[in-house]
Amino acid sequence: MKMKQYEQRIQTLLSNMTLEEKVGQLQQCGPSLVGAFDVSFDELLNMMFDGRITKEEFDRLMGTAQQDFHEEDLRAGRIGSYNGIGDAATANRLQKIAVEETRLGIPLLFGYDVIHGFRTVTPIPLAESCAWEPALWEKTGRVAAEEATAAGVHLTFAPMVDVAKDARWGRISEGAGEDVLLNSAYGAAKVKGFQGDDLSKPDAMAACVKHFAAYGAGEAGRDYNRVDMSMQRLWEEYMPPYKACIDSGARAVMPAFNDINGVPCTANPWLLRDILREKWGFDGLVISDSNAIAECVDHGLVEDKRDAAKQAIQAGMEMDMSSNSYAEYLKNLVESGEVPERVVDEAAADVLRIKFELGLFDNPYQTSEERERGAMLTEGSRAVAREAAVKSMVLLKNENHILPLKADARIGIFGALAADQGQMTGAWAIGARPEDCVSIVEACGARGISYQYSEDGKDLLKIAASSDVLVAAIGEQKEESGEAASRADITLGKEDLALVRDLLATGKPVAVVLFNGRPLAIPELAEHVPAILEAWHPGVEAGSAILDVLFGEVNPSGKLTATFPAAVGQCPMYYAHINTGRPGGKSKFTSKYLDAPVEPVYPFGYGLSYTTFAYDNLAAEQTGEAVHVSVSVTNTGSRDGDEIVQCYVQDAAAKRVRPVRQLKGFEKVSLRAGETKTVDFVIPFAELSYYDWNMEKVPCEGILKVYVGGDSRAELSREIRI
Ligand code: GLC
Repeated sequence: MKMKQYEQRIQTLLSNMTLEEKVGQLQQCGPSLVGAFDVSFDELLNMMFDGRITKEEFDRLMGTAQQDFHEEDLRAGRIGSYNGIGDAATANRLQKIAVEETRLGIPLLFGYDVIHGFRTVTPIPLAESCAWEPALWEKTGRVAAEEATAAGVHLTFAPMVDVAKDARWGRISEGAGEDVLLNSAYGAAKVKGFQGDDLSKPDAMAACVKHFAAYGAGEAGRDYNRVDMSMQRLWEEYMPPYKACIDSGARAVMPAFNDINGVPCTANPWLLRDILREKWGFDGLVISDSNAIAECVDHGLVEDKRDAAKQAIQAGMEMDMSSNSYAEYLKNLVESGEVPERVVDEAAADVLRIKFELGLFDNPYQTSEERERGAMLTEGSRAVAREAAVKSMVLLKNENHILPLKADARIGIFGALAADQGQMTGAWAIGARPEDCVSIVEACGARGISYQYSEDGKDLLKIAASSDVLVAAIGEQKEESGEAASRADITLGKEDLALVRDLLATGKPVAVVLFNGRPLAIPELAEHVPAILEAWHPGVEAGSAILDVLFGEVNPSGKLTATFPAAVGQCPMYYAHINTGRPGGKSKFTSKYLDAPVEPVYPFGYGLSYTTFAYDNLAAEQTGEAVHVSVSVTNTGSRDGDEIVQCYVQDAAAKRVRPVRQLKGFEKVSLRAGETKTVDFVIPFAELSYYDWNMEKVPCEGILKVYVGGDSRAELSREIRI
């Protein structure tokens, strides 16, 4: 139901607005860059990207750039929102024009990509998802909102909850990995963190769940590529996280760039009206992705931008981010009778509504330069960033207890990433500043650790001879993941592998710290390197958090939320796969590759600890409308630790074949050395249902296998009959 609270004020305002002012509310623009270059900034970027100009020429031209905020359009009531304004002074200056110099004084809505922190950059979402901790995800979302709103942001284009099963896709870095339950829990927690308990509070930031829908299923892991799948799969494996975010209160939705079965999400009435509005009852705002309305021409859906505007608005796309399609054509489309004015009224009403909900009409200036100065990078927010980074790291290997390092260990550190502060933020950290980030080398210096550092392996033998342990900081640059960063080869670079081989050849213990925004194909590391810590891109507290784990001040507990294949040729590779009639195995005629193992190098849910855990007393029974599962977990090692207990099921005989494992519950438990706890899961039958051939929802019946353990290969199992 629409929010009754503001309806009267919205309708009164709408009745006073001209058609041009209503269309103006649907226009979101960003500052344009103008300077001594006669092409658009995007074109200038492309010219550098494809080599028509050098980086130096690009930088020189950028030196002439000024930001054009289109104030005249704003004064004329032709702008309702800005994207990418990240400072209080500019936001308040533009807001003042909107409130005091336009005919109706309708305040602006400021949107920004606050994906994993604003100035206090926390680990990339794929990393943070490895904490399997909704309370943490909410907490970092709250820190992000407090900083971003202090800088004038009202709405973030997050959380991104696109289930991603293909490591080639660069944007796998931006969500919670390959599992539908984890993405749902991650997104719902982030919405709560961003929005807080009252959207009208100055530190509340509206959440915009994206990218609706199934952007992570792009064919071949290539960004923006087609998504073509059965409705069964769409609903069972990709749609639930968006619904979870809407149920958690998200006030905006961003449709995805991709098509679904041939109809671009941007102009897809089935998606944006039948499902989002009618079936799910969403009453918030729908904001396009950047330039996406105009790109319906490139998709081949429409002949021109005017037709794109027509189809998009009629499909339920409300605010136009940066394509100017509505600004250029919508007034004419209404005046010509091709688009009913009520369609524009509904869209404009949703824009006004979110502005009322955010308190912008009563309090358009929700921040100040003074608040902004005091809000950034506080000790408290850095502590949260460090906690998130530590909990996001995954200990992949630790032979001969190389880790944790002894406090007085002499360390030889190698690799540019050990000292590169800017690389620690990862993709989509547009508010970040490299100087805010702590590198490994910097953290070593701050702690008085005995270390020697070589960026490029120079003096390797000399350093190795006077070191107890050698640490290689290798992996991906942050530019190698995120948007428009799909990779056809997900192995480590030649230099990284050469460095690791040289370090191993010294005979000294070697530990690798991996920095990456996606699962990498690292079979050689897995086979030969005795210790591997997956650090991802950990944010501002990278170095401190990495040393906390390397020196055992914190016992790592992270578990992978995306599968690490042995080779890119296996992608997409994921745990919740179906069995086939000839599941991969030793004999020839089974489903596998001749030149790659059947099992991944590291599976979903996997992660080691400095202690060990044992599972026992698994019980599963059907009571009422649910399956009750209980298991005892014991810390069988010599130090306290946290274990992420995972509960999977398999519907072994169904009307449509079901995945061999599906995560249906998880809980992180803290166990002192020697301690045992019982962990219980309750799985409602509704969560076991699925779609049959005719898209009828059917219950799980017959044999249900239940698996509980520390990763998706859990062997402790029970079988019940439902
Ligand atoms: C980008 C991304 C989207 C982001 C938007 C605004 O193209 O697809 O996730 O929120 O533009 O920057």
